[in-house]
Amino acid sequence: MDDQQKSPVIVIFGITGDLSKRKLLPALYHLLKEDLLPHDTKIIGTSRHDIVIDDLLGSVELCVLEKDNVCDPGGIARLRAALQAFKLDPIEDSDYEALKHHLDELSAENNHGDRIFYMSLPPSAYAPIIERLSQHGMNDGRSRILLEKPFGYNETSAAELIELVNHHYKEDQIYRIDHYLAKETAQNLLTFRMHNPIFTALWARDHIDSVHIEAAEELGIENRANFYDKTGALRDLIQSHLMQLLALTLMDIPTRLNSHEIHLSKQYFLEQLMPASPHKAYRAQYNGYKAAVSNELSRTETYAKIHLEHGAERWQGVDIILETGKALPEKHTRITVQFKGHHGQPHNKLVFQVQPDEGISLDLFVKQPGLENKMEKTLLDLTYDTAFEAGKHIDAYERVLVDAVRADQALFASANEVMATWRVLQPIIDAWDTNGDGLMSYEVGSYPLFDES
Ligand code: BG6
Repeated sequence: MDDQQKSPVIVIFGITGDLSKRKLLPALYHLLKEDLLPHDTKIIGTSRHDIVIDDLLGSVELCVLEKDNVCDPGGIARLRAALQAFKLDPIEDSDYEALKHHLDELSAENNHGDRIFYMSLPPSAYAPIIERLSQHGMNDGRSRILLEKPFGYNETSAAELIELVNHHYKEDQIYRIDHYLAKETAQNLLTFRMHNPIFTALWARDHIDSVHIEAAEELGIENRANFYDKTGALRDLIQSHLMQLLALTLMDIPTRLNSHEIHLSKQYFLEQLMPASPHKAYRAQYNGYKAAVSNELSRTETYAKIHLEHGAERWQGVDIILETGKALPEKHTRITVQFKGHHGQPHNKLVFQVQPDEGISLDLFVKQPGLENKMEKTLLDLTYDTAFEAGKHIDAYERVLVDAVRADQALFASANEVMATWRVLQPIIDAWDTNGDGLMSYEVGSYPLFDES
C-alpha cells in the first residue's frame, strides 16, 4: 500500500458478533499480514461490554484464509497491534463524545486520516448509532459509513432507512455492502462480457433461453436464529446478492468501467425488471428449523426460488430464475446462462462458478472419436486454481475493506439499486406475509420438491 496515504481508522460496531468473527477479523488479519492496508491502519472494535483483545482473538478462527488454516505469528502480531477495544453503549451520548475525542487524538498524534464506520450489526440497530455519530461530528468529509444488508425489510422500511442514512451522510460517504459483488468471479462478469465479443453478440433474447442464479448453502442458520427468523431467504440473499449478480450478468455494459457508470447501468437494468409474480415464487423451510429458532409458529422460508421477467425488449421472454436455500446438499453459487439451440430449444450452457472452485465453463457438443458418428457433450472448463497463480485470491471481505479504505464505491450497492430490487420483490413479500399457505418443508441435505407447472 502507498505510504503517502494517511492511515485510516476502521471503527467496527458489533466486533463480537457473528459476522465480525467469521468474516471481518479473518479478513483484517490476512490484509495486515499481506501488507494490503495502509501503514498503521487502526481498528477499533466497539462493544457495550469490556472486551479483552486476546480473548476476542482467541474465540475466532482467524486463519481460515490461509492455506491449511495455519496462522502466521507475524500476521497475528500485526492484528493485535492494530486492534483496540472501545466500550460504547449505542445510546449513550457521552460514549460518542469519548469516541470522537479518541479519533481526534489519533489524527493529531499519528496522522490518522479517514474514518470508516463499519456497522457489523442488523439494520434495526443502525438508527441510534448513525444519528449519534452525526450529532457528534463523525460524519464530516473524512468519514465513511459501511452498512451490512438487508437494507430494510420491505420497500417502505428500505426507503426509511435510506432516508435516515442520507440525512446524515452524503451518498458518496455511504457504502452499502454486498460482499457477493466482491467475489472474484462476480467481478469477472463484466470483464468477460466486454472482452469476449463472441459472447457479446449472443447476449440477448434471440440466443439466451434462461438465466439461473443459485446460491445454495449446506449450513443451516447456525447461531443467527434471531436475525434469520425475521429475515428469511428472500430478503437475506435474493434481494441483495442474487439481484446484484443478475444485474452484472445482463445489464448493458457501461461505456466506461468506473463506479458512477457501473451504478447507472445496474440501476437502469434493475428498474426495468417487472414486479415479481407470487404465482411464480416458491418457498420452503427445512425440517428442524422451528426448533433451531425456538419458534414453533415460524413461517420463515429457508429456501426460495423465484422467476422474474425483464421489461426491456432485449430480454423479453427470457426466464430469469433466482434460487437460494440453507441446509441443502452442498454449498455452491453459480450463474448458468442457457443458450438456445435449433428451433429455440435449450442447448449450450455457459456457467460462471462463483464459489467454491471458481471458474467458467461452457458445454460443447462434439463428435466422439471413432468410426461411428456419435455426438457427445463435453466441457470447456476454466478453473481459477489451475489457470491462475495460487494465493492471488482475495476474499470478498478483504476486497470490501480495501475498497472502503480507498474510497472506491464500484462494488457496493447504490440507494437507487436497493430501492429497485425491493420494488420488484414487494408483491412476493406482500403475498407471503398475508398468506400462510404455500410454505413447503424439506429434509436437511435435500432440495424441496415443487410442482412448477
Ligand atoms: C450473507 C447471508 O449475506 O451471506 C448469510 O446473510 C449467508 O445468510 C452468507 O450465509 C453467505 O456468504 P458466503 O460468502 O459464505 O457465500
